[in-house]
This record gives sequence, C-alpha cells and structure tokens, in this order.
Amino acid sequence: MDSLQIDSVMLEDTGLSLQLADGSPAYFNYYWLRDNCPSSFDRETRERTFDIFHSRNAPKPSAVKVEERSLVVDWEGEDHQSRYPLDMLASYAYGERRPDPSDLPRKPWYSDHYPDVCRVSHPLLLESNEERRRWMEALLVEGVAIVTDMPDTDEALTQTGLQIGQIRPTFFGPYFDVRTHIKPTNLAFTSKALELHTDVPAEEYAPGIQFLHCRANSVAGGLNLFADGTAVANDLREIDPEAFRLLAETEVPFYKEHDGYDMRSYQRVIELDQHGEVSGVTISQHMADIFDLPQRTFDTYYPAFVCFGKMLQEEKYVMRFSLQATECVTFDNHRIVHGREAYSATSGERYLRGTYTDRGELRGTYRGLVSEGRFK
Ligand SMILES: [Fe+2]
Repeated sequence: MDSLQIDSVMLEDTGLSLQLADGSPAYFNYYWLRDNCPSSFDRETRERTFDIFHSRNAPKPSAVKVEERSLVVDWEGEDHQSRYPLDMLASYAYGERRPDPSDLPRKPWYSDHYPDVCRVSHPLLLESNEERRRWMEALLVEGVAIVTDMPDTDEALTQTGLQIGQIRPTFFGPYFDVRTHIKPTNLAFTSKALELHTDVPAEEYAPGIQFLHCRANSVAGGLNLFADGTAVANDLREIDPEAFRLLAETEVPFYKEHDGYDMRSYQRVIELDQHGEVSGVTISQHMADIFDLPQRTFDTYYPAFVCFGKMLQEEKYVMRFSLQATECVTFDNHRIVHGREAYSATSGERYLRGTYTDRGELRGTYRGLVSEGRFK
C-alpha cells in the first residue's frame, strides 16, 4: 500500500495521517495506535491489559473513519474496533512528554531563606491533605521544609516519612541516629564540624528525600548549615560554563567502607533534568573516593571541582540555624547540601534521628494529591 485516502484519513504502510480538531495534520504509527486502544487498559486495576507482544502480525487497519470527534479503526485479522478521541490523539501527536504536575520549576534560595522556609505542623500533616500538598510542593520547588510539633518518639519520624512514601533504608538501616558515638563509623557521629554534603552518595542510587528529627539540642555550637546546591550550580553555569559542563558530565567515584560492606558508586557532581536544568548535586568530601580518571583530566576537572566546593561554602549561599527539639527538617538529598558546625559534646545533649524516602515516592504522592491521573 502506498497511500490511501479514506474520509479525511491518509493511510500509509506504517501509519496514518489525519487532521486534528484544530486543523493541524498529525501522523500516528499503527503499532502505537493498536497498543493504545482505550480498551487496552483495565479501569479497575488501571493497568494495561493488552499485550502487543502477543499480536501475530504487524497491526494494519481494515477500515478507518472519523466520526463524532473520534478516529475509529477496524483492525485487519481481528474482530476489534478502536475508537480514539481526537483530543487524546492531539496530546500524543508531537512526541511531547505527558504533562507532569510534579515537574514544577525550582526556586533557588540563598543564606537569608530561613524565615521563609515552609513550616508545617506534624499533627496537621497527619489529618490534612492540603497541608501535605503544601509541604510536598515546598520540597519540590525549594527542596527544604521544616515539620514542627513533632512528638518525642521514634515512631514520629517514620510516620512523617510515610506521609510521602515508603521508608528507604540505606546501609545504615531503616533509620540512623546522629549523636556522639564511642567508636564512630561516620564523621556525623562525632562532635566535629561536618562539611556540606549530600548523604550516602556511595550508594548506586542515593536516597532522594531526607528527614532529620531533632530530639534534643542543648549543646553549645553545632549550628545546622544548609545550602541550595541548584542555586550554586546555576551561578557556576553563569560564571564558568566550562567548569559547569565538566561537573555535569564527568562521573567521579564515591565509597563507604566498613566492617562487612564496601559500597561504591560513580556520580556526577551536578545533575541535570530532562529540560537541561540543574536538578541536584552530589557532593561529600568524606565519601569521595580517590578519583580514578586519567591524570590529564584532572588538569581541568580539579579546578572546576574545587571552585564549586568553595562556592558552596560562600556566605551568600549558606543558611545557618539551630534545629530545635520537636522540629524535623525535611529536604531533597539530591539538591540540598547540609552540614553542621562543631559543637561541644560535654555542653549538653544533641540527638537527631534520620530516615529517607525517595524522590519518586514524593512525586508519586504529590501527583496523586493534585491531579486526576488518567483513570478517574
Ligand atoms: Fe548528612
């Protein structure tokens, strides 16, 4: 078949062309059409039940027509008719991604952000979808929010995490306690200063959302330090595009080794999203492995890496505050770098309990709250 005009539809070997409701022409492949017949999906499970791998032949129409703002296709060798609303076809005519309500523009923030940090009360979070939406939107847009009025219990942290999604264990287990340890396995478990970092980049897929519940904080010192890695990376992009490119394209190794485990991964220091926008950073001086790239690469990579690391620490970017008992700071672990100043371990008690969930869980729960999906 070369091409055949039926009604206003032009049939070709591999697909058909028609005019959309707005008059613009559009082409649709026969496989795509057959696979995505509205009857392919079960309304109860909301899953695809049609399996194109079981089709004997390449799909071909035996008859087509446009009626009542729908394309109607009968399929050769099948007793099956498909009916596609033209509006549905229009959404897929140009290969654009399905609109994602969680794909919100990020708002960079700087050292003066603390008074404006989104705050939500723990008891309200548990009962109000609107409060959960507001909280999750802050995590998507600004990457940080504080949950207040947390009960002084272990369960409160888990309960908070579960408002977003399933708890994501790491090699520390399903949660971690940050206080001074006698035999520390991590710098966090000492009273020394903790440089700005993202957590556990040694894991192949580091957890996306972090929760740090402050249970006690009466020590002298130990101010919390937070900075928006995307704000810093965006500025680097302006100041030194070549350094930015190197950090966004080069994978460098991270590690975490102790008794019984030897975690290793390669990560890009600057992460870009599908729009080419900075979506995050991965940085941890205490988990950076010995970089094992060709030595000549370091002639350009190290200056870029050091420049970025120094920028992260500039006063302009670092938000300093003291997390109070009953507060839980929640943040995007792939975007927000965090650390703390040294504190005096004998001056009082400092105890934080932390856990994680993933970015995908956050986006999935957020979409469920604000949109109807395809099946409601
Ligand atoms: Fe950390």
